[in-house]
Amino acid sequence: MRERVSPARSVQGSLKLPGDKSISHRYAMLAALAEGASRIRNYSTGADCQSTLDALAALGVRIERANGEVVIHGLGLEGLREPADTLQAGNSGSTIRMLSGILAAQPFVSRIAGDSSLERRPMERIIQPLARMGAEIRAREGRYPPLEIHGRRLRPIDYALPVASAQVKTCVLLAGLFAPGTTTVREGVSTRDHTEIALREFGAAVEVRRGVVQVQGPGRLRARELEAPGDLSAAAFFLVAALLVPGSALTIRGVGLNPTRAALLDFLRSMGAAIRISHPRQCCGELVGDLEVSGAGARGGVIEKELAAALIDEIPVLAVLGAASEQGLEIRDASELRVKETDRIATVAENLRRMGVGVEERPDGMLIPGGQRFAAAELDSFGDHRIAMAFAVAALAADGECVIDGAEAATVSYPDFFDALRTVTE
Ligand code: S3P
Repeated sequence: MRERVSPARSVQGSLKLPGDKSISHRYAMLAALAEGASRIRNYSTGADCQSTLDALAALGVRIERANGEVVIHGLGLEGLREPADTLQAGNSGSTIRMLSGILAAQPFVSRIAGDSSLERRPMERIIQPLARMGAEIRAREGRYPPLEIHGRRLRPIDYALPVASAQVKTCVLLAGLFAPGTTTVREGVSTRDHTEIALREFGAAVEVRRGVVQVQGPGRLRARELEAPGDLSAAAFFLVAALLVPGSALTIRGVGLNPTRAALLDFLRSMGAAIRISHPRQCCGELVGDLEVSGAGARGGVIEKELAAALIDEIPVLAVLGAASEQGLEIRDASELRVKETDRIATVAENLRRMGVGVEERPDGMLIPGGQRFAAAELDSFGDHRIAMAFAVAALAADGECVIDGAEAATVSYPDFFDALRTVTE
């Protein structure tokens, strides 16, 4: 699908976002393992989170979805059934990596596959710890999906994460729910802690000290009523849009502001953005608030070290802002970008070049000089939702109408993105 995006005179109004993708996956998986029915409001409308629901349904979990709510009839820790067919994770790294932690503990063999993008993404990062816990996992070339998971009675491990990955942390913690004793995950660089928070909400015995997370198995989970906050990573596109287009003023209501995700706000402020948080509140252990962004322009900055991990999903749209900023943006220590839904260093650089924007591509990042203008161009999502949305935002500041090929990729996390963008731009 091709979407046409015209230059915007301003970004104005008020907006509510789909439920957080990361949190939705976790709520669904934990609800499936809980005893009783859990109700999740504002569950992500993205295709990725539907992949998780479909996989859970194929494992025997009864799920009802209507009016923005999902009801999941949990089967308890021992209740999942052998699926009739290969489970389909679609485009979703979270689905395959996190669910594998659960599948590794089942008394049956399961297969889980993905689309052509997912089938190129590395899985040894979950295969290794799950093998240490006792599961047997076969993968294409030893590292790519599809995975064939031979579940076993797992033993707890003490695991230092070799990559800064919340998906891997979650995979091990979910497996740890089934392993009698204490499973420990140590992280050198902190990653999003939605799993730790959600485990506690569902009544699991979980302890968190600086960089160390421990879960006790077997964990008995209680069904819950939950609400997913608006997705801060989706908010990033609109925040940058408002900063790119002079004279903008936008309010985004009910956004998740978990401190392990909110580096985005601090970074934008360090670039000179005026972002105000109002109505801060707690919801299911997560911090939520409304965001007001105004003004335009950004100074520039450097994303490196821990910040690269904390901003990993937002880098495509921050790269766009970087090109328009005064001093430009340098991104280092972000080689993980190369193994996302696309090689995001390559796909960001390619679209920037199509817009006439200079960029130096590096193995672990890129250098984007500031003060550049965006020329109207035909752009491509390359099948990656965040690339589709990041370049729709760039198009708002272009000198003419742009076309985004493969715009339907946005449905992975935000099916209504282009409609929402139209409602706040003029
Ligand atoms: C996610 C963790 C990150 C992020 C992804 C969602 C999660 O991936 O990029 O979009 O929900 O835990 P990694 O764990 O690969 O860093």
